[in-house]
Amino acid sequence: MSRLLDLFAQANQVLIGGAGASGRYYPLLGHPVYVARGEGARFWDVDGREYLDLFTGSGANFLGHAHPAIGQAIRDALEIGIICNGETEHHVRLAQMIAEAVPCAEKVRLQNSGTEATMGAIRIARAYTGRRKILKFEGHFHGMHDLIWFNCGAELGDVRTDGTVAPIADSAGTPADLGDLLAVVPFNDTDAFDRAINAHSSDLAAVIMEPISYNQGCVPADPAFLQHVRDVCSRMDIVLIFDEVLSGFRMCRGGAQEHYGITPDLCTLAKALGGGVPISAVCGRTDIMSVLSPLGPAIMSGTYTGHLTAVLGAIACQTELAKPGFYEHINALADHLYNGITYLLDALGVLGTVQGIGARFGLYLGVEGPVTNYREAMVCDRAMEAAFLMGCVRRGLYLHDYNHRTPMHHGFSAVHSLADIDEALGIMEDALREARDAQRTTTDSLPT
Ligand SMILES: Cc1ncc(COP(=O)(O)O)c(C=O)c1O
Repeated sequence: MSRLLDLFAQANQVLIGGAGASGRYYPLLGHPVYVARGEGARFWDVDGREYLDLFTGSGANFLGHAHPAIGQAIRDALEIGIICNGETEHHVRLAQMIAEAVPCAEKVRLQNSGTEATMGAIRIARAYTGRRKILKFEGHFHGMHDLIWFNCGAELGDVRTDGTVAPIADSAGTPADLGDLLAVVPFNDTDAFDRAINAHSSDLAAVIMEPISYNQGCVPADPAFLQHVRDVCSRMDIVLIFDEVLSGFRMCRGGAQEHYGITPDLCTLAKALGGGVPISAVCGRTDIMSVLSPLGPAIMSGTYTGHLTAVLGAIACQTELAKPGFYEHINALADHLYNGITYLLDALGVLGTVQGIGARFGLYLGVEGPVTNYREAMVCDRAMEAAFLMGCVRRGLYLHDYNHRTPMHHGFSAVHSLADIDEALGIMEDALREARDAQRTTTDSLPT
């Protein structure tokens, strides 16, 4: 038996599904991939199998694996000694770096994860406005807490006359009536948004969105739609929150808000903020952020928030991002990869579309595109996608898939090279051809 399968058997004795987190179980493989070590753009599993990594820790490992600057930062934290629940000059430095880079970030509060950051942003918006409801968009994921984890699963809510769709909790255990505090709206649909605003504005504290929604693969906001949302929120004193947990730092240092030139009132950051260390932040306008204690009545704190290893790791990561040429490299790789995939789809006669901005992308097989909202993303050909993903993984190109029911995002790191991207394209070509041929064989053998 392989070491990996043996470990899986042992893991099942003590870990649910053999994994420490639901998303690390790989449904198409039937087990998690137990990693032995990672370096740069690659990692090795416990059987010694090498993978070129296009998962990159769900986008957190933006500097690849075992980056020397992050390793040094963690050693420095150990040297300093005050690891947990202490405020240092380094916290100030990190907040300054975020404020320099991110347009809305007049003030910063640190957290550990993206989930905590969106929870905090919602609390701040409610405290600031004195209102209760949150408008979110269908398919946008903002973490796993009960306030907002609705309508990004496989089940689609009924479309209603007030422009919203019926809220559907994405996890068992979430009380359905928490959905009463949400207005869920189709993305990039100005008419639906306006109707929902008219119906709910008196009780709306915030509009939250992924301005580039990588959690549906990669669905960017239409610029005119985004500007409209900005204008409506300003006019009605609704707090506009960009959840930039994935889009932050992904294509330029200021994230989606710099990319679009549209500034939200608050934003949440994680993942590429720290290059793999557990850190997140809520940032935004001084007057809104000032509802937080000790200045205001809203509380957001925690034993592990701003952990020194994470703070120093994030400073090291941000220092790399600020180096000349960093984003030229990211965007050159992006062009090469996404043009390359488009070429392959065309050359192999496979219906599909790739959408990517900066270092992350979605691939929609069986969809002509462009994909502008969740319902369009959800019709992709799952059987073909499964064959493609497994074809890649078998050949040593790691693309992850959390649940194989909703669209997935993939991406590279700053230490991937053009040669790595060419290698990935070569594997994708073989996997796509195989998936296409398997589909043709199945179709040919169907009874007429
Ligand atoms: C846009 C967005 N918000 C929030 C989260 C939750 O972040 P975390 O997994 O760090 O809790 C994620 C995670 O992928 C995300 O993509």
